[in-house]
Amino acid sequence: IDELLAEGVAGKRVFVRADLNVPLDGTTITDDGRIRAVVPTIAKLAEAGARVVVASHLGRPKGAPDPAFSLEPAATRLGELLGADVAFATDTVGESATATVAGLADGQVAVVENLRFNPGETSKDDAERGAFADRLAELADVYVGDGFGAVHRKHASVYDLPARLPHYAGYLIATEVGVLKKLTTDVERPYAVVLGGAKVSDKLGVIDHLLERADRILIGGGMAYTFLKAQGHEVGSSLLQEDQIPAVQEYLRRAEEKGVEFVLPVDVVVAPSFPDLKTKAPAHPTTVAADAMPAGQMGLDNGPETNKLYASKLADAATVFWNGPMGVFEHPDFADGTRAVAQALVDSPGFSVVGGGDSAAAVRILGFDENAFGHISTGGGASLEYLEGKTLPGLAALED
Ligand code: 3PG
Repeated sequence: IDELLAEGVAGKRVFVRADLNVPLDGTTITDDGRIRAVVPTIAKLAEAGARVVVASHLGRPKGAPDPAFSLEPAATRLGELLGADVAFATDTVGESATATVAGLADGQVAVVENLRFNPGETSKDDAERGAFADRLAELADVYVGDGFGAVHRKHASVYDLPARLPHYAGYLIATEVGVLKKLTTDVERPYAVVLGGAKVSDKLGVIDHLLERADRILIGGGMAYTFLKAQGHEVGSSLLQEDQIPAVQEYLRRAEEKGVEFVLPVDVVVAPSFPDLKTKAPAHPTTVAADAMPAGQMGLDNGPETNKLYASKLADAATVFWNGPMGVFEHPDFADGTRAVAQALVDSPGFSVVGGGDSAAAVRILGFDENAFGHISTGGGASLEYLEGKTLPGLAALED
């Protein structure tokens, strides 16, 4: 983007593909981290006199307008953060978008409505995606990719549009790639990785990669129960991916062979059922040993002994990568495991990277100071796929 700024952008229509996919409670944004992360790029372009057209997806609407997924709250928040009026188009490439962009003066910013209200955005059909990218290209003279959280998606605005316009990477993508590249090339050791979240199946690729690079891997969240079961423990009514047990057993075997330490919970917080996240009503939790989980009880967080153990495993790490919450942190009865890992990262003198939409939101929602971490990534799936060594369509399109 510095190259673009040096060429001069005054009067040019610059399309910024951002990731404004923020968590919402109705129309209230519960974590605006992703919006704040793209402000430097947008502010710099506007200051330089560009007519900035910001586009993003939000959630997973079904290819048609759906008010529950409107980007308007994000556009309003962006305006507050920029300290400027931000115009909002009620469609993405239709009359409203065309008129809004045509009405921009130099240095002004507009947000167009959710890209995924259009079936062409996510289509698997190259021609359909291409046709939508052609419409998007009419809105701009230049493309800036800065939606790091979406670079692993082969979508029209991420992959096809840059091929149609002069294209540049924004500051956020440059920073994210710089940090993740370091983790895949010259990582400082000991290198510890904390993986959580619901499903083992989402993490198979990254575990495969980490077995070659990490010194220790700490497991938590819903996926921990499949690991415990693979070790022969009963897990009550906890989340379980039975079909992944052979893969997990194979990872545990390979880890032993390679001297990679796999660390699993030694105690867990259980409750009779999944808690109500709306009312946050007391969920009657109890703590039990991880090898003695009672039938009919569901594991929902790491227990206090596990929290101490994990803190000790992170204390001397020179590098830590963390993806995925350790429990149902949205409910106060099950937030301690996630809080303990976040605190351990803050206390550790090493370089810590929080990767992922959920874990990044968790550290902010739990009240941690973002500056206490080495880097908080805006990409969940994107950072995992980067670490797996996959080619990410949105980066490939910018690099060509
Ligand atoms: C994310 O939340 O990881 C990104 O915004 C991508 O969203 P998606 O998984 O719906 O493509």
